[in-house]
Amino acid sequence: MDKLRIGLAGLGRLGQRYAENLARAVPRAELAAVCSPVDAERTWASDTLGVGTIHDSYDEMLADPSLDAVFLVTPTSLHAAQIEQALDAGKHVFCEKPLSLDLEDCRRTAAHAANAGKRAMVGFVRRFDESYRHAFMHIEGGGIGRPFLVYSQTTDLADPSGAFLKFAPTSGGIFLDCSVHDIDLARWLLGRPKATKVYSTGTVAMYPPLEGMGDVDNGIAIVEFEGGRMAMFYASRTQAHGHDTHTDVTGTAGRVSIGRNPRADRVEIADANGVRNSVVPSFYERFAPAFVTQAKHFVDAVLDDMPFELTMDDAVEATRIAVALRESLQSRQPVELG
Ligand code: NAI
Repeated sequence: MDKLRIGLAGLGRLGQRYAENLARAVPRAELAAVCSPVDAERTWASDTLGVGTIHDSYDEMLADPSLDAVFLVTPTSLHAAQIEQALDAGKHVFCEKPLSLDLEDCRRTAAHAANAGKRAMVGFVRRFDESYRHAFMHIEGGGIGRPFLVYSQTTDLADPSGAFLKFAPTSGGIFLDCSVHDIDLARWLLGRPKATKVYSTGTVAMYPPLEGMGDVDNGIAIVEFEGGRMAMFYASRTQAHGHDTHTDVTGTAGRVSIGRNPRADRVEIADANGVRNSVVPSFYERFAPAFVTQAKHFVDAVLDDMPFELTMDDAVEATRIAVALRESLQSRQPVELG
């Protein structure tokens, strides 16, 4: 097989970016079909992509025997069931994070994937970012001794319109929506330890409707892992300066920091007000090349029968920790993890 024939489900905010990447930037992929239940999204696909087949139903797309794999960029509540359906239809599956907001669903889908004839991977895009990869290699090579502490944050630019409030009730809360990335990074950078205990707290600084949803717009968390390893996370929806994602890893012989200045480009302006640079406005400007690298990794691993860098167990563990953080936020108590 020269190229992987892919069907993509979900053409929303992120799905459209995936569609463009698969159609134009992943040489060993052929975007053969897309599907969306929304008329305007199918029109966009027909006008923009030049893709062969456009479906309004996922079931109909899965019935196409010529498709080798499916990409899911659909709402999180659909991921687990859609992965299982795709595997049952004989397709390899790539799915956007998180696997599910429900731990039992995660475990069931991971078991389903383990026994299927095809393979599934849940994407955590930051693992494919050049700077994070550089840091990982440095740590792997012993550059900071034994790593034992991760600080990682995912903080979004404040949106005065409060548009995100529409998605908030189904997002799983700030830790499942935002910190799940930092959780996966911490496990990866610390050698994939199991978490043993978590504590979290938070506040509603700018968006009062979140109070009625049991959610916060600024949350902090502490996670203890086996072997004396630890992580601290900060998630926010209220930053004044831009999308600011960064990570520090401390070891016995040094520290590595990734993305501390969330600069939009390499321009620095110095004048009577001091020295400054612009900041990326959202996750996509920060991680656009990594989304392409991630898609290439999936396609190459399937075509060349190589292992995925991310396992289904990684996806389950990220949800397990994020769910415990949400429980801690609501109970105001630490949560022990077995
Ligand atoms: P969105 O709501 O903009 O798009 C969802 C899409 O799914 C829409 O096109 C909708 O029409 C489609 N859809 C709904 N039901 C469907 C069905 N049964 N079959 C096929 N398509 C269906 O959502 P967004 O922001 O694009 O998020 C999608 C996923 O991507 C979420 O799981 C989210 O967690 C993840 N995401 C990941 C990010 C990252 O940094 N890696 C950032 C943003 C989102």
